[in-house]
Amino acid sequence: MSRLLIKGGRIVTAVDDYLGDVLVEGSTISAIFAAGTAPALDARVLDATGKLVIPGGIDAHTHLDMPFGGTTSADDFESGTIAAAHGGTTSIVDFAIQYKGQTLRQACDAWMKKAEGKAAIDYGFHMIITDLPDAVEKEMDVLVKEGVTSFKLFMAYRGVLMLDDGSIFRALLRTGENGGTICMHAENGDVIDVLVRRALAEGHTAPKWHALTRPPRAEAEATYRAICLAEMAGVPLYVVHLSAAEALEKIAEARDRGLPMHAETCPQYLFLSYDNYEEPGFEGAKYVMSPPLRAKGNEEALWRGLAMNDLQAVSTDHCPFCMKEQKELGKGDFSKIPNGAPGIETRMSLLYDGGVVKNRISVNRFVELTSTSPAKIFGLFPEKGTIAPGSDADLVVFDPNRKVTLNAKTLHQRVDYTPYEGRVVQGATDTVISRGEVIVENGKFLGKVGRGNFLRRRTRT
Ligand code: URP
Ligand code: ZN
Ligand code: ZN
Repeated sequence: MSRLLIKGGRIVTAVDDYLGDVLVEGSTISAIFAAGTAPALDARVLDATGKLVIPGGIDAHTHLDMPFGGTTSADDFESGTIAAAHGGTTSIVDFAIQYKGQTLRQACDAWMKKAEGKAAIDYGFHMIITDLPDAVEKEMDVLVKEGVTSFKLFMAYRGVLMLDDGSIFRALLRTGENGGTICMHAENGDVIDVLVRRALAEGHTAPKWHALTRPPRAEAEATYRAICLAEMAGVPLYVVHLSAAEALEKIAEARDRGLPMHAETCPQYLFLSYDNYEEPGFEGAKYVMSPPLRAKGNEEALWRGLAMNDLQAVSTDHCPFCMKEQKELGKGDFSKIPNGAPGIETRMSLLYDGGVVKNRISVNRFVELTSTSPAKIFGLFPEKGTIAPGSDADLVVFDPNRKVTLNAKTLHQRVDYTPYEGRVVQGATDTVISRGEVIVENGKFLGKVGRGNFLRRRTRT
């Protein structure tokens, strides 16, 4: 059995912070010693002096190889997971899509095929349900038993992805029986469609109109409606990619009433703003995503939400489309710009820099938001999300002082831009270990393509 001793690092979990040596045997953590007290062993030694040793990141919101708006997201499971690994993420939960008329089994099989033989890190699936006849509702139970324990529903994109309130309510009720979790895309799609049609009729075609036709109130209203539906069904809810302070208020209010409502935000809503849509020419297309970037000021509310636990996770919603040939599909009509932006590789460094270095969150909270909390919410804890004997040896040796300049050319995401071009961040991944295997070292990917395991996730407890 292979042995790896990570020596002298500052071990940080959601609750601990101490100097120690981590012994990895095979794919799991076998022991942790006070710094310098590990016995002499036949092991590869990794010196982590001056570095943090943290649990591998878990990105619970990615879209690899996903068809959208007449094209497909630019990263597949190979390039996307290698990029994730470079950024310190060792597990993802991606979204499989059930198209209208399909069974969940068909959707699941299709996404398994996309990932198998390609994923370089461990991966699970949420299932997007776009059509809920009785048979599909029953099938939700089968998926939950097979480890696909969460379902994403859309309150926007009528005719494509959107589900009506009755179907949403039935899906919520079903999770009350099978222990699954509903993840909600909360935007009022019908209001947005009216605003989009009106804007186009008035000749507004530039990318910024994507944001101007998706007001924060449309997100807040849908968030509140989703909370009410979940409350009436008596089940928890997880709101994905929350962007607006107005929507966050609805989550905070519900949590203050003791309801089990959860939400994530994403780096783009913490670091970018509506002003990016005003960049010259077609540049604003880089930031066309849903919900859109919000006016400056919203980000501080989100940072407070992260610090106060009104928001429980930071995921990426990594859904990359190249400017060339993909975003360009919407030149002359903002509604045809594929929705989404890249971010799978930059999440950990951005959150460390904006959060810990800037004193908005503690280093423990950083670990909680990027790893522990998604592991707990999505049924992966304690194998993932912490550093403890018996847990998977998914570990990152993270340099809290190294500064890097984010740049599309040096990142590994397969897309021709990063929304963070030129931004200098403090805090960078040095070495990445996935189930005991060093997969990134000295900026090089050393793992084998296809080594990632499918994660059969548990239901919530
Ligand atoms: O614009 C986005 N967020 N694209 C990905 C699909 C989704 O709604 O998460
Ligand atoms: Zn969404
Ligand atoms: Zn998404």
